[in-house]
Amino acid sequence: MKKEKNIHIHQGKSTRDILDPGQVLLNVGIKPGDVFLDAGCGDGFISLEAASLVGDNGMVYAVDIYDKSLESLEKEIQNKKLINIHLMLADITCKLPLDDNSVDIYFMANVFHGLVANNEVKNTMKESLRILKPGGMLAIVDFKKLKDTPGPPLGVRLEPEEIVETLLSYQLQKPKIINTGPYHYLVLASSR
Ligand SMILES: C[S@@+](CC[C@H](N)C(=O)[O-])C[C@H]1O[C@@H](n2cnc3c(N)ncnc32)[C@H](O)[C@@H]1O
Repeated sequence: MKKEKNIHIHQGKSTRDILDPGQVLLNVGIKPGDVFLDAGCGDGFISLEAASLVGDNGMVYAVDIYDKSLESLEKEIQNKKLINIHLMLADITCKLPLDDNSVDIYFMANVFHGLVANNEVKNTMKESLRILKPGGMLAIVDFKKLKDTPGPPLGVRLEPEEIVETLLSYQLQKPKIINTGPYHYLVLASSR
């Protein structure tokens, strides 16, 4: 699965029009009070839905490396006066300003294939496992490898089984593959 060079451009457009955040988060099993991290949140349409589901006793960390991605989300948070989303301009392949064992759900949508293409999986996994609580959930949504469907070139898309294989190699447990809409699947696994 590894590629030699950093060649994949990560700044894809939002999947807001083709991915139902409510359905995805129902499948993830998010609940009130959860600490939820949206890694590579883009315009944050899933972070916003997550914030309404974790409620005032939970917290959503919306993380993206590109400040432009976060601008519209910041405006929406201010307009709605939301207090349970924290924006983080940060690189998910590096150390994040979060404590060990502090996150219930580490989520990424349409990001993992780019990490594989750019050989960034190892550092990202290491950091996600540091901040996930024991028994916490890693949740990865990505594009189905189907011709003539929205998303990145077929060559960089992954079969969900490839993601499962990677997660098992990092000692994650009880992997599950769930169909989530016409163009996406979800892979779930829990940390030890
Ligand atoms: C294809 S977009 C997906 C955005 C959103 N999750 C969605 O499904 O609509 C990939 C996002 O990941 C972000 N990203 C890529 N590499 C990153 C990194 N190392 N750290 C943080 N964010 C990253 C990009 O800026 C971009 O917003």
